[in-house]
Parts: sequence; structure tokens; C-alpha cells
Amino acid sequence: MRKIAIRWIDHIRQLDMDVLEGTFALAGDLPLKLLEIGGGNGFVASKLSGLGFNVVSIDPDPRQPSFYHVRQGDCVKLEFPDDSFDIIFSSNVLEHVEDIKTAFAEMKRVLRPEGIMIHTMPTPLNTVLTFLTQPVRYIFGLGFVFGQAYRVIKNKLRGHKNNNDLSDNLSSDSDPKKLNRQNMREVFKHLNPLRILIPWHHGASPSCFTELHDWKRTSWIELFESNGFAVEQTVDLPLAYSRNVVFPFCFEKLRKHIAESISPSCRAYIAKPEL
Ligand SMILES: C[S@@+](CC[C@H](N)C(=O)[O-])C[C@H]1O[C@@H](n2cnc3c(N)ncnc32)[C@H](O)[C@@H]1O
Repeated sequence: MRKIAIRWIDHIRQLDMDVLEGTFALAGDLPLKLLEIGGGNGFVASKLSGLGFNVVSIDPDPRQPSFYHVRQGDCVKLEFPDDSFDIIFSSNVLEHVEDIKTAFAEMKRVLRPEGIMIHTMPTPLNTVLTFLTQPVRYIFGLGFVFGQAYRVIKNKLRGHKNNNDLSDNLSSDSDPKKLNRQNMREVFKHLNPLRILIPWHHGASPSCFTELHDWKRTSWIELFESNGFAVEQTVDLPLAYSRNVVFPFCFEKLRKHIAESISPSCRAYIAKPEL
């Protein structure tokens, strides 16, 4: 399940990049220095590098396996000199940043005054589809839950000898007792009956209900403007999807149709610093 989830996300990011390729031309002639924030597994950074940008990608928690070297780093404390990048890019990251004011101040500092920022962020449709698919996700999740519970019990019966498979799934901690506790917590979290209908919130917005307001186009634009950036353009990305990974790779035509006729699940914001 975990592997499929990553590949599906990468597939979505590939489609996003196909749409955004032309937008990057707005930044000027190559070579240009691009900072990617929250690069995750480096998939998008590898695509941007393929387009000819000189890419530096950072993330507080770089993911493995990785497609590109992602340095450890946080956007609220960018360890780069002033005016060092022509473009700052992020894909589905700003909604996770708690101290967004400091992050914007830092981005403004390291971006050249004539530089541009391109950030993609979720739309309210992402949350609506997450609500709608939540029961399916819950049922799929039960398989995972019982699998984990079975492993914990087996692990206990075997005197914690066989904990490698557990650590692969949930934690890099090697203390078996701690691992079992962590796994049981995870199991109870999945069993919470509220989860059948109400998804957990995603990122810095306090709940999945507030996401419906915070992720509106106008809310994101206001956030940029109140932090010294002018949004010059928004670009709808091509798919409708939820953050529950249900039916990955299926219904692509329908997903595109919904994205075009109702709303996409993610939108790009192209912004310039206000001088
Ligand atoms: C939903 S993932 C997106 C990953 C990748 N950009 C993608 O599109 O697949 C959000 C990423 O933001 C990163 N992140 C969260 N807070 C951050 C911060 N303060 N500075 C930089 N990255 C951050 C997380 O570690 C995570 O990798």
C-alpha cells in the first residue's frame, strides 16, 4: 500500500509538472538557480533539474528512496545568502508550514528582487473528496490495522526477536518494546470510529473543516499579499483526487473532467515580491 501511494503521488506530480513547464519559462532564460522547499523524495527536483534549472532542494525530513539529493533544511530558517535564487518553488508544502510569516520573510530574503515564486497548494475540493472517500479509506485501513496488531502479538510471543518488518513500516526506532507501543497507538488511531466519516486534518490548518476556507484561492492569494508578494497568475493543475489513496491510477479521464469542470485538487500560484 505504501509503495503504491508513493508512485501514485509521483504520477500526480508528473502531470502537474507537464502543465507547469511553460510557467517556469516566465522566470527568464536558463541557467537559473531554483530553490525547492519541502522536496520530499526529490521526484519534482529531478524533473526541474531535467528542465535545465540549477536545483537546490531542501526538506526537514528528506524521504527515501530518493530521486534527487534533498538537503536537510527548513523554510523558516533558510541557510542561504540574501538574493541567491531566481526561482523558489514548492509542491504541496506551504499548507504544512506552521510559522508561515517567517517562511515568507525568509523566501523574500533569499529570492532576487526580480525573481519569481511558484507554489502549488491544495484546494477545498481536495478536502471534499477526502471526506467522500473516507469510509473506503477506513475499510482499507482495517486490513493494515489487523496486520499490524497481528505483528505486534507475534512479536511479543517470539520475545521481540523479529521486529525488522515492524520498523520498516512505522518507525526507525530499534527498541522493540517502544516499537510495539508505537504500533499499538497507530492501531488505536486507525480504529477511532470518528475516522469513518471525519478525516484528520492535513498540515497547519486546524481541522479538515477549516481547510475548506483556508485552501480557497482567495485565502491563499490574501496570504501571499499580506506577506509582501503579489500573485500574478494561478494555474489549475490537471487532476481531481483526495489525499486518501483510494483507487490510485483509476478514473483518470473522470478526474480530469472534474478538475476542468468543477475544480482541481491542487492549484499553482505564481507570485513576485512587492518592491
Ligand atoms: C505533502 S509533502 C510534499 C512533498 C513533495 N514536495 C511532493 O510534492 O511530493 C510536504 C513536505 O513538506 C515538508 N515540510 C513541512 N514543513 C516544512 C518546512 N517548514 N520547511 C520545508 N519543508 C517542510 C515535509 O517534510 C514534506 O516532505
